[in-house]
Amino acid sequence: MVPTSLASLSDSPGTSPPAGPTAPPRLSLQVAPIATDTTTIRSLDWDRSRFDIEFGLRNGTTYNAFLVRGEKTALIDSSHLKFADTWLAALEQQIDPAAIDHLIVSHTEPDHSGLIGHLLERNPEIEIVASKVAIQFLENQLHRPFRSRAVKSGDSLELGTNPSSGTDHRLEFLSAPNLHWPDTIFSFDHGSGILYTCDAFGLHYCSEELFDSDPGAIAPDFRFYYDCLMGPNARSVLQALKRMEALPPIQTIAVGHGPLLRHHLDLWVGDYRDWSSGRSKGEAYTAVCYLSQYGFCDRISQAIARGIGKAEAQVQLVDLRASDAQELAALVGEASAVVVPTWPAEPEAELQASIGTLLAALQPGQWVACYDAYGGNDEPIDTVASQLRSLGQKQAFEPLRIRQVPLAEDYQRCEEAGTDLGQLLTRDRTIAAMKSLDGDLDKALGRLSGGLYVVTARQGEGESQRSGAMVASWVSQASFEPPGLTVAVARDRAIEALLQVGDRFVLNVLREDNHQQLLRHFLRRFPPGADRFAGVNTLDGVAAGGPVLGDALAYLGCRVAQRLEGPDHWIIYAVVEQGNVADTTATTAVHHRKVGNHY
Ligand SMILES: Cc1cc2nc3c(=O)[nH]c(=O)nc-3n(C[C@H](O)[C@H](O)[C@H](O)COP(=O)(O)O)c2cc1C
Repeated sequence: MVPTSLASLSDSPGTSPPAGPTAPPRLSLQVAPIATDTTTIRSLDWDRSRFDIEFGLRNGTTYNAFLVRGEKTALIDSSHLKFADTWLAALEQQIDPAAIDHLIVSHTEPDHSGLIGHLLERNPEIEIVASKVAIQFLENQLHRPFRSRAVKSGDSLELGTNPSSGTDHRLEFLSAPNLHWPDTIFSFDHGSGILYTCDAFGLHYCSEELFDSDPGAIAPDFRFYYDCLMGPNARSVLQALKRMEALPPIQTIAVGHGPLLRHHLDLWVGDYRDWSSGRSKGEAYTAVCYLSQYGFCDRISQAIARGIGKAEAQVQLVDLRASDAQELAALVGEASAVVVPTWPAEPEAELQASIGTLLAALQPGQWVACYDAYGGNDEPIDTVASQLRSLGQKQAFEPLRIRQVPLAEDYQRCEEAGTDLGQLLTRDRTIAAMKSLDGDLDKALGRLSGGLYVVTARQGEGESQRSGAMVASWVSQASFEPPGLTVAVARDRAIEALLQVGDRFVLNVLREDNHQQLLRHFLRRFPPGADRFAGVNTLDGVAAGGPVLGDALAYLGCRVAQRLEGPDHWIIYAVVEQGNVADTTATTAVHHRKVGNHY
């Protein structure tokens, strides 16, 4: 019997979604030589989930540390606290921790610096080498005295000549503020040609493959990581690239996350240059302010910044704790939009001064918006919102209220609010682009037609659930074996975040005789984080990846296999894993257009 409505398909056989992970997360260690006198200790975190905004592609992550032995020995970074037992044991197999002379702290984020306290217990004399800001952060974090040396661009540390290899190791430092923490430094070993960059050039990808031997496999994660963490600091990326150009030839970029970059350096560095140049073309930008090491500010600001970037608008992250007054006043005063977190009700004197500078630098014509830092003892968000608008500024989006430790849906809401703001700033450009097509070409292009579909996606369970939906007509079958299709998804679509490589979604095929209501519903302008399925007849559990619309003619359960980056759309190629038709006598709704510069 042919079912006439997808509502009757809920028990139909199909490929069931893979069972969710129930086993405890897998953690392992990898120790390997990577160059003369140089060993890496990589902490492999196979299951670190995508709950954190930047862990987008479900491939886990790694935290990489390095031992460099000249006459003296330096350890570059450590690991996450969760590796305390195994990582320290692995280190001890390599060297007595008391014999390490220097600990280079590339930046103080806990996933790389979580074991510094443990190291100091074993070696209270170790000298911590870091940027001045990082040393201040560590003083607040460690609550114990330690020997330190503050370094900046151009400074060097002589490790001397390794007695067995005869290689001289001199570490030269490069300041790389904002990549992605304000306190970041890179270290270049003149003996091995390795540049240690910690977060910069990294990617969240867990495998035992030490190097970038298969660039295709890691490229989507490399791009996603850039978009989340580095893109909002594109100007700082370009500054760091300039500093790198002055170094002797770099043999390897030893990143803090993922495989080390050795075989395709030109590709990775070229990508950073192209992407960052594209994002910092002296246009209007949004200053997204945050407070390093306060509540969930760092992550929330990144989600907002990623959203703004999706709309092709410029963004600059500004740390209210680390920026000096002059820099802060300029970044805020020259911005077209300013986004601000709630700050502690009783800030320390320096922060109090920065907040004063920020408020004084705001300009009447700017867009402003605020978000909860969720730091525990914050100034109420409405107070912050009204201070931001005291000169009659326009509110870019409703205050983002976060009433609990941020969940996946909060990050999604922040990203969508960021995109709305980005679209406000790029509106004129978008309208101009739509008008710019040549008339005849435009009409000819308009003769391309497609079906009408609704793409739906839902990920995660319970509190960490995220979902989305969009109307699509730029859909085409793209392969027979395996069955595959493409959907062109505009870069600033809310649902784009749920269509990363490996993600599942459902393509709902609309019926010619019954599609107007669904179109009207899904084409509404939804506020950030809105439930797009409220009031719609959906069937859950039919297809992996998203709800099936009860009134659709057919559904296809798809898994994203590749993403091709077009100028204004991502071409998502997906393998179709399951599907069914409700009514084989009905036809697909078709979208006929007059012109090619609209859908
Ligand atoms: C007939 C029609 C077809 C569309 N097809 C596509 C499409 O193929 N790809 C796309 O990115 N957007 C397409 N859109 C636009 C989006 O469906 C819609 O504007 C979007 O859901 C709103 O953006 P948001 O989801 O990011 O809020 C289409 C819109 C219409 C009216």
